[in-house]
Amino acid sequence: MEFKNIILEKDGNIGIVKFNRPKALNALNSETLKELDNVIDLMEKDNEIYAVILTGEGKAFIAGADISEMEGLNALEGRAFGILGNKVFRRLETLDKPVIAAINGFALGGGCELSMACDIRIASVKAKFGQPEVGLGITPGFGGTQRLARLVGECKAKELIFTANIIKAEEAFNIGLINKVVEPEVLMEEAMNMAKQICSNAPVAVKLCKEAINKGMQMDIDSALNYESEAFGMCFSTYDQKEGMKAFLEKRDKNFKNM
Ligand code: CAA
Repeated sequence: MEFKNIILEKDGNIGIVKFNRPKALNALNSETLKELDNVIDLMEKDNEIYAVILTGEGKAFIAGADISEMEGLNALEGRAFGILGNKVFRRLETLDKPVIAAINGFALGGGCELSMACDIRIASVKAKFGQPEVGLGITPGFGGTQRLARLVGECKAKELIFTANIIKAEEAFNIGLINKVVEPEVLMEEAMNMAKQICSNAPVAVKLCKEAINKGMQMDIDSALNYESEAFGMCFSTYDQKEGMKAFLEKRDKNFKNM
């Protein structure tokens, strides 16, 4: 499928999604959000894709939601735009395969929010993060008020959102917003290496781990541990559990089949 603002590639079991509107620093307009929704459909249906990488073309990952599109919106239209972004980002967050954000540059507003809907964030030293919305007279609208506090704690989230400060990758790493900071020339290599490492494990088990962590984080500890036991038990109905354990005992390489 061809897209106007997104380039979709596949490398082995890895789906690579590149935001490709570099003249507007990959700002998210509703057209791009709808394209991303379609990309998620493709990723979801493709059983050969075990992990996904998101990145941006040019000097930005994503410099936010598209300000020129938002400028003239009325309240109902603004709400609909927020609902669209939240719906698409939530689909990514709950996609049944891990998603890595390879953050090459600006990740501001909706860009920072998109990265937070991913499972892992690897950033170039050139990347910059922030939620500058209040400076535009709006609140973060694609999950920023919710996911930032959950990731870095209420204290830092409030500081970042109220001040609209832009921080460097190193500070983002120090406050626990991202997993890793690397040199720009090795960013994709690092993301690919991590994706390959994830793909070498049993995809069903990885998928169940993602679900258990995401759902468990919203539950009380007893319900969460019950959920974990169910996921753990379910693994024993899979081919990959038999194969993984057999291969270990027979001291040979494993051959997972995602089933
Ligand atoms: N929306 C629309 N266009 C954008 C954009 C955005 N978020 N960010 C950048 N652009 C456009 C610029 O208007 C400019 O277009 P022209 O060449 O046609 O003038 C082009 O991208 C290049 O940008 P700059 O010339 O500004 O590049 P710079 O290197 O000087 O500055 C920057 C880079 C600091 C990221 C600056 O572009 C900037 O501050 N951008 C806006 C960041 C922002 O406020 N993001 C939050 C948006 S609101 C939001 O995301 C709401 C939400 O939560 C859903």
